[in-house]
Amino acid sequence: MGSGTGITAEFREVMSQWASGVAVVTTTGQDRRSYGFTASSFTVVSLEPATVLVCLDRTAECAPAFGRSQWLAVSILGAGQREVARRFARKGHDKFAETDIEPGRFGAPLVSGAIGTLECRTVRHLPVGDHMVLIAEVHAAGPCESAVASGEGPLVYHRRAFHALGLDVRAS
Ligand SMILES: Cc1cc2nc3c(=O)[nH]c(=O)nc-3n(C[C@H](O)[C@H](O)[C@H](O)COP(=O)(O)O)c2cc1C
Repeated sequence: MGSGTGITAEFREVMSQWASGVAVVTTTGQDRRSYGFTASSFTVVSLEPATVLVCLDRTAECAPAFGRSQWLAVSILGAGQREVARRFARKGHDKFAETDIEPGRFGAPLVSGAIGTLECRTVRHLPVGDHMVLIAEVHAAGPCESAVASGEGPLVYHRRAFHALGLDVRAS
């Protein structure tokens, strides 16, 4: 599917049916400032070594910081964190000013109250079309104890809206 095929609108519509979790991906720039964006393109690439990927729009304001940094953190948002998701998806303001943040072990900040966090070293920056695929090896993984204890479920994105899971449907 190349550009210029006229498939983009249909592609977006079909992909809006793909339900996903929601994460905030963060890094620290060479200017020592924190950068981050809301992401649904996060997934596992490999278990051994533990490796994940996230795709970042190359026109994002934070893209240069992610392009140069070695470390990123993924904070998986809980159902009660949709305001955080909206904040990190809005351009042109200080996303970190109103956000409770914890310092990560490797320099990338973590969102407090996330239901799971990963701290990763970026091993490849792959440009693909209008996005940059960040492939990153996991160096620390921290399920948030309080979220696990409270049983808070994930924030879910589907058809351009946020949802919480309504039913506890088990895989087996
Ligand atoms: C639920 C949701 C998921 C998103 N997923 C991605 C994503 O995976 N990759 C991406 O580049 N932008 C994604 N975005 C858009 C970015 O979060 C948004 O454009 C952000 O402001 C970009 O960072 P910037 O402010 O530094 O430009 C998503 C937005 C929402 C609401």
